[in-house]
Amino acid sequence: MAALLSPRNALTIARIVRVNHAGEFGAIRIYSAQIAVARRLYPDCVPMLCEMLGDEIEHCSLFRSAMPARKSRPCRVMRFWSLGGWLLGFLTALMGRRGIWACTAAVEAAVHRHLDDQLHFLSGKDDALHAVILSIREEELAHLHHAEAQLANEDMLVKALRAVISLCTNVLIWLSTWGDSVRMAATLRHAKTT
Ligand SMILES: [Fe+2]
Ligand SMILES: [Fe+2]
Repeated sequence: MAALLSPRNALTIARIVRVNHAGEFGAIRIYSAQIAVARRLYPDCVPMLCEMLGDEIEHCSLFRSAMPARKSRPCRVMRFWSLGGWLLGFLTALMGRRGIWACTAAVEAAVHRHLDDQLHFLSGKDDALHAVILSIREEELAHLHHAEAQLANEDMLVKALRAVISLCTNVLIWLSTWGDSVRMAATLRHAKTT
């Protein structure tokens, strides 16, 4: 980790690790629920969903390992991520293959935006965490591209679903940080423009 971090930057880094860990846990729950439904209804989707689940498990453990050195702890509302993620995965899977891939596209696009902001902020401040996020970003992007390829024609239903899921994702992020996510986003935006 880079030395001489200001308390404010150290706090932002601790928050980044916490919200990313919670997000990866939420993704694990989404894909687990979708796999449970897909095994019965759309077995052709199962191999890719299992591959993405494996990636999310790996990402979650990387952020968990990054916590102690940054004085970060799992967020206090992991049960929201657990229940919210599972419900989101279950309900979208019941809508069919398009529901599954619209959910993946919405979640992974939100993740990708956050990771990009974080990479910009962490550059020169925490090189180890920067490297972890950079390696994860490639896999998240592959998840996003795979989902978008399955949604060749985005009709109104898919667009509406993506918008609702993006909103749900942001609400979960807000809840997991009790509003810190808004301040964190402002800090990251500020870093981007200076
Ligand atoms: Fe992930
Ligand atoms: Fe992902």
